[in-house]
Amino acid sequence: VGDGLGKECFRMLRRTRIAVVGLGRIGRIHATNLAHGCASADLVCVVDADAETGRRLAGELGVASTASLAELLADDSVDAVVIATPTGTHSDLVITAARAGKHVFCEKPVALDRPATLAALEAAREADVRLQVGFQRRFDPDCVAVHERLAAGELGTPYLFRMTLRDMASPTEEFLRGSGGFFLDVTIHTLDVARWLIGEVAEVSAYGAALSDPVFAHLGDVDTAVVVLRFENGALGVIDNSRSAGYGYECYIEILGSRATARIENPPHHHYEWLSPAGAVHLLPQDFEQRYRRAYIDELESFAACVRDGLSPRVSGADALAAFDLAVAADSSWRTGRTVHLKPGWEVDGTLNEPGTAPGRHHDQIPSPVT
Ligand SMILES: NC(=O)c1ccc[n+]([C@@H]2O[C@H](COP(=O)([O-])OP(=O)(O)OC[C@H]3O[C@@H](n4cnc5c(N)ncnc54)[C@H](O)[C@@H]3O)[C@@H](O)[C@H]2O)c1
Repeated sequence: VGDGLGKECFRMLRRTRIAVVGLGRIGRIHATNLAHGCASADLVCVVDADAETGRRLAGELGVASTASLAELLADDSVDAVVIATPTGTHSDLVITAARAGKHVFCEKPVALDRPATLAALEAAREADVRLQVGFQRRFDPDCVAVHERLAAGELGTPYLFRMTLRDMASPTEEFLRGSGGFFLDVTIHTLDVARWLIGEVAEVSAYGAALSDPVFAHLGDVDTAVVVLRFENGALGVIDNSRSAGYGYECYIEILGSRATARIENPPHHHYEWLSPAGAVHLLPQDFEQRYRRAYIDELESFAACVRDGLSPRVSGADALAAFDLAVAADSSWRTGRTVHLKPGWEVDGTLNEPGTAPGRHHDQIPSPVT
């Protein structure tokens, strides 16, 4: 018994050694969390296409940096990589890392098109490495609590799903150019939450507008959208998204059910109010980092534990593919003005447009990278 307990303690003490690739807005958050916030992980190295960015952050966090991804992947002491580079680079990086035997945490979305998404999933499956994708709301403590109560049947039959996700301000034009468009970059988060909480989606109708800055129309993109869903279980959904809410960052979710209604509010950034003759003010989060501080830590903590214990990640490649297909369906609906019907198990009807390629096979038919 003592020996078994000793081995268990040793296993629990083992920390997954992780490197971060890409150190922009989100990579910097992941690297900092791995360095200071995760009990099951150690940050061992950072790398960015801009070597100076890598050196500077490595200095701040007290870890190594390298200019060579090949060198990093050849290092046997590195267990896993976090890929936080621009979306168009993800698939090749996932494939290269998986073939080098590294477990992979990849930011959303996995790729800009379906073949590249499938290729990344297949590479992880072939190499038998864990692949987790960065849908952080699945680790937000409030979302997790609501998910558990839904799964236990406490809400009864879901009737209506409603979700607001709004950024305070748009990212740079350079980022927008490589983002895959509003539906693939922003709405994909809400579509993942929708299918996680309510179930598979049967129909998608999307409306979009470019209102806050001429750059969106110039890029053939939108900054504001409303997406209407019909779920396979009959429930309806309404999503509203914005790149430019101005007042702050907001994510709000409501599920109306036959026995109860769940609301996940957008908590204030600080737990105090400022009262004056002008009124009572509480400070709102300004960006995803402030709103999801805990979730970003917990998703990496969970990934590190999955790698250590040989478990399947909570957000799989198949989940990423399903959300990708829904985002492409929303993009297609916006472009064509038609409702896109997702038939369980096979094709979508509706005209599909570049850059996303047609959602063909249903995600259930794609083998999960970790079985
Ligand atoms: N889950 C979330 O909440 C969330 C939030 C923001 C961004 N993202 C996703 O994360 C990814 C990155 O977004 P971002 O806003 O941090 O982008 P960013 O432009 O701020 O940063 C990207 C970084 O990657 C570096 N880079 C580019 N190509 C590289 C390569 N081949 N190898 C190494 N480094 C490279 C760049 O120099 C830059 O520092 C995107 O896919 C985006 O969709 C997710």
